This record gives sequence, structure tokens and C-alpha cells, in this order.
Amino acid sequence: MGWDATALPEARGRTVVVTGANAGVGYFTAEQLAGAGANVVLGCRDPERAEAAVSAIRRRVPRASVEALPLDVTDRRSIDAAADSLLARGGVDALVLNAGIVHPPRSRRTDAYGNELVLSTNVLGHFRLVARALPAVADGGRIVTLGSLASRLGRLRLEDLQLEHGYTSWRAYSGSKIAAQVFGFELDRRLRAAGSSVESIVVHPGYSTSGRTPGIRGVNQPSRLKRFADNLQAAWTQGKDDGAHVPVRAVLDPTLTGGDHLGPALWTKGAPVHAPATRSSRSPRQGARLWPLLEAASGQPFPLP
Ligand SMILES: NC(=O)c1ccc[n+]([C@@H]2O[C@H](COP(=O)([O-])OP(=O)(O)OC[C@H]3O[C@@H](n4cnc5c(N)ncnc54)[C@H](OP(=O)(O)O)[C@@H]3O)[C@@H](O)[C@H]2O)c1
Repeated sequence: MGWDATALPEARGRTVVVTGANAGVGYFTAEQLAGAGANVVLGCRDPERAEAAVSAIRRRVPRASVEALPLDVTDRRSIDAAADSLLARGGVDALVLNAGIVHPPRSRRTDAYGNELVLSTNVLGHFRLVARALPAVADGGRIVTLGSLASRLGRLRLEDLQLEHGYTSWRAYSGSKIAAQVFGFELDRRLRAAGSSVESIVVHPGYSTSGRTPGIRGVNQPSRLKRFADNLQAAWTQGKDDGAHVPVRAVLDPTLTGGDHLGPALWTKGAPVHAPATRSSRSPRQGARLWPLLEAASGQPFPLP
């Protein structure tokens, strides 16, 4: 079925939490959902950047209902406090797991718990957040995980998930995105097995660059050089505002169901459509092997068997 990103269904009364929402795809996901009438909660680690994003949405979307939630996905105390806050309010209709490192460091870095930083940011923090905040997600609610086309060009090193041997920035990124996708599909299987009505959907935003994205004070201010360089790739790239159409559809389209995978129609750009996911991302065997590794590394047992 087609989807018109310029004519979104009414979302008034629904609450959507977007992690890493002060910039990029996350910001535009939040802005577009606010435009559809949703209450949007921006999970951000930096209070000034969060405030800039909240102000930008209020400026650009009349009568927007928007607020910031402090959240650093590499900090367990921050994750737990954010989860507690969501549990206290309840009624979360969708949780968009978007925060991420897209330009990993050249050499391996770790978080305060000794976990490799890209894995920690792109997967472990979200795993812990969902494990703790799941009861806050409303019946029929959705958890939307941001995967990537990069998942097609790498492999998941379950034997060395933390890349203690042979770290490269590419391995860190592609491995983290494969792990995120495996998590998203395994989460859906576990939710179904537990009889939950919550659905887990996996999406990727194609190839979305800031130089092809509208300038917004405090949110997206690429240099002229960046705009020039990104525009040279216009044939196969799109703005992050267009990339956001994919997670927005995953949140709002009532025809979707748990386990769906969406991406842009032309792989790297275009309208949000159903897209094929890699076999290894969907593999129940990979999911079953990855799950306990995520539980151990995040220090968080997951409340679904
Ligand atoms: N852009 C693409 O072409 C593309 C393609 C495939 C997948 N994706 C995925 O889409 C998501 C967004 O990508 P993007 O291009 O929009 O990236 P981006 O512009 O770099 O934005 C990343 C967002 O994540 C936040 N973040 C990073 N570390 C965090 C932490 N420890 N705690 C909380 N928030 C944190 C950043 O906040 P700060 O401002 O504080 O750093 C920022 O708001 C990522 O998961 C990425 O892997 C993007």
C-alpha cells in the first residue's frame, strides 16, 4: 500500500518518544509526528541541544505538543531515570530507537562499563531502555528500531561482539546496525510469544545527509562546503527530513504489523515502503544467540523469556 508522507493520519492524543531527537533523522521524525498532532518526547543527552530542538519544533509546528527527556543511552543511570519517567507517565504509543553514532571513532573506545562505544550507543542503551520501560508502552504500541543498509555490507561477530580484536570504524558501525536489526526482529518474536499486543518494527532511512536537509538553527547547520559535497551525491541521497518519513510511517501506519521492515523505495532514497531485510537479521537463531549477550553487556535482564 502507498503512503503519502505529506498527508499523515491524525495522531492527536498519542505519545511518541524519539531517542536522539535533537538532530538528524530523529529531529525530523519528532517534528513530523508533532505536525500530525502527536505529543512528542525528545530523548536527548545535551540540555542545550534538546532545548534548541524543542524550540525549533514549536517555531515550525503551530500548537506542537513537545517536551524533552534527558537521556544519554551510554549512561545506565540516565537510561534508568528516563525509563522511570516513562513508567510514571505510562501510555507511550511508540518508542523510536534512533539515537546513534553514525561516524564511529577510528580507534576502539569504550563507555564507562567497558562496552565498545558504538555498540553501547546504537544497541545496548536501547536494549536496557526497552527492557525497563516496556510496561509504559500502551496496548497496541510500537517499538521502532533504526537499522541501516550498512547491515547488508557487514556481518555480526557474535564471537567478538565488542570488537576486542580487529576493531575498525566500519565493522563497529555495520555490526552495531546488524545487532540493532536482529534485536528488533527478535523483540517482535518474543513479544508475540508472550501474547503482547506491542509490535516491534525495523526501519532504515536510506542514505540521508545533513547537506541535503533544510537548515534549522541549533539543529542542522551544515557548512557551505558540506552542502556542496553532499549535493554532489544528490542522485542517490536525500535529506534527513525525507529519511524521517520511514520511521514516521512505522509509527503511524495502521496497516503495518510487528516484524515489518521498511525503507525508502529506491533503497537509498524515496518514499517509505516495505523493504527486504537480510536473512541474518531475521534469523531466530541469531536472535537467540545475541539476546543473552545484550543482557550481559547492558547489565539488564529482559522481562520477556
Ligand atoms: N543518515 C543516514 O543515512 C542513516 C542511514 C542508516 C541508518 N541511520 C540511523 O539513523 C539514526 C539517526 O542517524 P542520523 O543520520 O540522523 O544521525 P545524526 O544526525 O548524527 O544524529 C544522531 C542523534 O543521536 C544522538 N546521540 C548520539 N549519541 C547519543 C547518546 N549517547 N545518547 C543520546 N543521544 C545520542 C545525537 O545527539 P548529540 O547531538 O548529542 O550527539 C543525535 O541527536 C542512527 O541510528 C543511524 O544509525 C542513518
